[in-house]
Amino acid sequence: MSAYDPIATLYDPWSTSVVEDISFYVEEALASGGPVVELGVGTGRIAIPTAMAGVHVIGVDSSQGMLDVCAKHARDAGIADRLDLRLGDLRRPPVDERVTLVTCPFRAFLHLRDDEERLEALRAARALLRPRGRLIFDVFAPSREDIEETDGRWIEREPGIFERADWDLREQTLTLSVRGPQGESRMTLWWLEPPRWHALLVEAGFEVEACYSWFDRRPYDGGEDTVWIGRRNESAQIATET
Ligand SMILES: C[S@@+](CC[C@H](N)C(=O)[O-])C[C@H]1O[C@@H](n2cnc3c(N)ncnc32)[C@H](O)[C@@H]1O
Repeated sequence: MSAYDPIATLYDPWSTSVVEDISFYVEEALASGGPVVELGVGTGRIAIPTAMAGVHVIGVDSSQGMLDVCAKHARDAGIADRLDLRLGDLRRPPVDERVTLVTCPFRAFLHLRDDEERLEALRAARALLRPRGRLIFDVFAPSREDIEETDGRWIEREPGIFERADWDLREQTLTLSVRGPQGESRMTLWWLEPPRWHALLVEAGFEVEACYSWFDRRPYDGGEDTVWIGRRNESAQIATET
């Protein structure tokens, strides 16, 4: 069972204030011409507005609960025909189609625990892309201040929804606990410094086209967040390419 299954109906109220990335991903989807593969599609926070903008989305997620919520949102919004939801692991996405854009919004790659898993996921994303297609994702690496402020404390993120971060600096893990009226869960995230993400992208066969600090496309300035645009490098030799 996925750690997201018990909180599938809590996820939207929990992430209600996370809106800064939506127009960025929708713009990129429109610019790609679609269809888009979204890895870790969740409840469709990005996929629903993308489909509403007219772009066909193939959404992959390992949580059936999250996909069920997403499917309901799609029906309610009248865009179910533009959203193709598939249960599966983003390291082995159940997708035969080839697209010009693959996305992995809101830090879903931080669920990958080591470089082996990260490379598997990045190479799988590359294999979904048409020549010169792009992979766009965002991740973070916490600041000392963030760790000191939040470590081990329950914080009311939204009314009635509490979140606790337990940071392990040596292992570079964040154990995130959440509880609210609809359920509770705990999950681990593994963070990396930006130069490592850059190196992994190159190793997986991408050119790094941009690394932004935020969704307004300001260049990376050393902050906690990074937004990556990798373009499929056609001259790269990828041993495991399918
Ligand atoms: C932080 S949520 C992001 C959801 C959505 N993209 C958004 O922006 O709101 C991460 C999502 O990734 C999914 N996920 C985590 N690990 C996964 C894996 N190995 N394969 C597929 N989905 C995964 C989770 O089930 C969850 O829905």
